[in-house]
Formats: sequence, structure tokens, C-alpha cells
Amino acid sequence: MRRSRHLFLGCVVAAIVAAFSASGVLSAQAPVQPVTPIPFTGTARIKIDIDRTIGEVDPLLFGNFAEHLGRMVYGGIYDEKSPLSDANGFRKDVLQAVKDLDVSILRWPGGNFASGYNWKDGIGPKDQRPARPELAWNDVESNRFGTDEFLKYAETVGTEPYICVNLGLGSINDARDWVEYTNSDKATFWAEQRRKNGRQQPYTVKYWALGNEIDGPWQLGHKNAEDYSKFALEAAKAMRGIDPSIKLIASGSSNYGADWTLWNRTVLQTLRNTVDYIALHTYINNGPNDFERYLGGWSQTIQRYIDTTRAQIREVQTGANPRPIYIAYDEWNVWYRTGNREKLEEIYNFEDALAMGMFFNTFFRNADIVKMANIAQMVNVIAPIMTNEKGMFLQPIYFPLAEYSKQRSNTALDAWVSSPMFRIPQRPQAAAYLDVSATYNARTREVYLNVLNKSKDKDIPASIENSGGSWASGPVAIWQMNHPDLKATHTFGDDQKVRPKTFSAPLSGGQYTFPAHSLTILRLKLS
Ligand code: AHR
Repeated sequence: MRRSRHLFLGCVVAAIVAAFSASGVLSAQAPVQPVTPIPFTGTARIKIDIDRTIGEVDPLLFGNFAEHLGRMVYGGIYDEKSPLSDANGFRKDVLQAVKDLDVSILRWPGGNFASGYNWKDGIGPKDQRPARPELAWNDVESNRFGTDEFLKYAETVGTEPYICVNLGLGSINDARDWVEYTNSDKATFWAEQRRKNGRQQPYTVKYWALGNEIDGPWQLGHKNAEDYSKFALEAAKAMRGIDPSIKLIASGSSNYGADWTLWNRTVLQTLRNTVDYIALHTYINNGPNDFERYLGGWSQTIQRYIDTTRAQIREVQTGANPRPIYIAYDEWNVWYRTGNREKLEEIYNFEDALAMGMFFNTFFRNADIVKMANIAQMVNVIAPIMTNEKGMFLQPIYFPLAEYSKQRSNTALDAWVSSPMFRIPQRPQAAAYLDVSATYNARTREVYLNVLNKSKDKDIPASIENSGGSWASGPVAIWQMNHPDLKATHTFGDDQKVRPKTFSAPLSGGQYTFPAHSLTILRLKLS
């Protein structure tokens, strides 16, 4: 118990350290200096050129994460005794909300949980499965929801399953056997076990993470970069021995101390001919309660994590035909301020919903390298969907997730932006008030313009220009989240107030005014 608590607190400390010092900018003790606007004359401009492409908005950017943690699985997606559940024990109301989010890929079973998990405990007749101490989160794992339940859930939702193997306390054989259980069509022991458990056809799980946050001292089975890389290389060899077609995700940086880049460098150097993605994890919060710094500072920091990792990937891609490697941002969210802290039941507010726009705009602007992203997590635990025995409610962060996901498979565009700027003390670069990304759907000839106005109190008019000609005449379809109270939240029976509005309006004089502290998606038709 002491140990688990220690691990849990370690994780929390890491999150707080990440929030303040990982950005290399703030320290937890430093007094918070106000941000300062930079004088700006004229009108903001956003120029779109559909030929200036970045890359495909990968459908896997709209992923989610289901860890055995608190009420995420038990009491969240799965509740065998609830009258609200179906015959599989899946909560029907939650299932519908998950389907409406259109989750493209679902990571499971952790997280920190994965590093102590024995998947073999979670198969076969449920009443014969052993309950085990759960050390990452100081709990008891009943094992009633295991591999077959997860994969059935993923099929029911219509999402790609993504399994994180245990490279903490687990063995290479366990990882190899897991691939055999889910993917093999041969008459071998673990494939036969799957058949005995009722599943004839392989599940063909394509995405596999080689461990979780092994760089973090809080992780069960934490290793240094060299030891992890060698272990992961051998695990990959054994797993691919069973199924050569699987895609592998290396455990990248989650612990952003001063030398965080060393971890990724070693991992990439060793696994450059093996993995398809390297994972990054980032949790943010508005600790100093400064809205503009919150959104402005974190978008710079996340961009820096991506830039650095991108460069490190390029550095190891030597030779004529290097293996493509992408970034999987397979844990990201706002975390740690309110709610039931032990169980991570964060209550999100309106400004956190705006932070969703900040994350997605950053992912879209880096669509050539960020090819997977999983918000952590899906239900109850740092999540957009909250349940109790009687029902559920949607947190404000739910709505941007659902709306941005409509841009999957569009082409991300490199929008040119001239925006009023502000300075964040101790940061070398100024931040833009208008945080913009754009994507193009060639089939419908529509440009989606995603604009987060990070100004706390200023509406910002901007001209919206089409470099290739003009926009189609007529009103523009608009989706917008705005609320007078940045701290407004939802709860059971009261989840209507922080919701988006959809309407249409003309671009009068070619301009649109983005209200203070708002997130807007304009759908502009090419003429
Ligand atoms: O998502 C909650 C936890 O955050 C995960 O278990 C871990 O990977 C990260 O530290």
C-alpha cells in the first residue's frame, strides 16, 4: 500500500513538475508574472492556400484510452450488475456516447496499470479468474474485464484496438503469447485457448505499445533508456515472430526533466529499424490560473516536444530507405486540479474545452509526423464522459473532441496567420492570440478553419483570405464554443450550459470576428 501510494504520488509529482518546469520556463516556486500584449496595428489575417499541404489528418488522431484505473473500466464502460448494461456488461448509455465521439483507436489496459498486469489472469471463465493486488493505483484487479471483453468492446464500438504490453514487470514471453492469443490462426496453445474461450477467428490486433512510460521512476519496472531499448527490441522480435504485420509503438518521453531528450534518442537509435511510432505523453493544467499563459505557453511547449522528437526521428533515419517513424501522442489531456484526486475524477470546465482546440490545432499543424493521438482517458478518469449508477453526463471537453474528429482524413493545410501576439515572461518566443489550424476536404471542396482565440477579453476580427481565389458566396457554417465563465462546469442533470452552438453567418467584408476566449470552426466552401 505504501509502495503503491508512493508510485501514485510519484506520478502526480511528475505531472506537476511537467506542468511547471518541463516547459523549461516556469518553476513551481516562481511568482507568476503577467503576460503582456504586444502592440498590433491593422487587422488580423488568415490566408489559406489549398496547395500548401502538411499531410493527411490521420484518423488515428481521434483515439482514446481505457485504463484499469478507478472507475474507467469497472463502473465506467463495464458494469455487469447495472440495469443500464447490455448482456455483455457494457453500459449502453456510455457505449452510445463513445460511438458519438467516433473514437478511432482505443488504447488498453494502461497506462501505469499495464506495467503490473498479467493478461493471462484475464481470460477464461470469469468466476475462475484470480483477483490480484493492483500496484500502480493501489487497488484490486478482479480480472473480470480482460482481453476478450476489451476486444469485444472495441468491435462493438467500431474502433481499432490498441494493446499496451507489460514491459515493466512483464516478460517477453508474455508479450509474445499475447500476440499469439489475439492474432494467430495456427493450432498452437494460446490460439487454442482463445478458441476455447469462444473466439474462433483471430482478432488481428494491429497496434501494440512496447510498454508504458518506462522512462518514469513511478513506473513498475522502470528502466534506464539502454535497458528499455534492448528489452523492447527483443520483445518486438518475438511479437513480430508471431505476427509480422503488427505496428509497434515505442515508449517515449513522458518524464520531461532537463535531460528528457536523451531517452528518446537512445530509444530511437536502438529501435529505428523496428518501431513505427514513438509515444509522447503530455498533461497540462492551468496551475497558476492564468488563462492566456495556460493556452499560449502549453501550445509552445507541446510544439517544442514535437519539433525535438521529429528532429530525433530524422537523425536516426539514415540510409537510402529508412523506416518511417511517426509520433503517437498516446496520452494527452488536462489533468489535476479538481474532483476526486485519488480516482482522478477530474471535473473539466470551459477553459479546458478550449484546451482541446489547442491540442488538436497543434496536432493538425504537425499532421505529417503526429499520426496517432489518444486523449487520456474516456470515462470517469480524466475523461469527457462521467457516470454514476443512474446515468451519465458529458463534460465540456467532450464537444470539441466530437467536432474535430469530423476532420479525419482531410488534408492539413499550412495556414498563414498574422495575429495580435502576447509575451509570456521568460519565454523567448511571443505567442499568437489566434491559434489556427486548417484542413481541406477535397471531396466536398470545404476548408475547415479551426480558430482558438486565446485572448481572455478581446474579440479579434480577422480577414479570411483564399489565396487561390474567392470563397463561395453565401453564409458559412459555424461551430462555436463560447461561455462568459471560463470556469463553468457540468454535473449530473446539468450538462447543457457549456455546449457548442452551430449557426451560419456571412463573412461580412471577408472578415469574421472571433470572440474573446472562444473556439470556432468555420466551414468555408471554395467557389
Ligand atoms: O492516464 C493516467 C496515467 O498517466 C497513466 O496511467 C500513465 O501512463 C500516465 O502517467
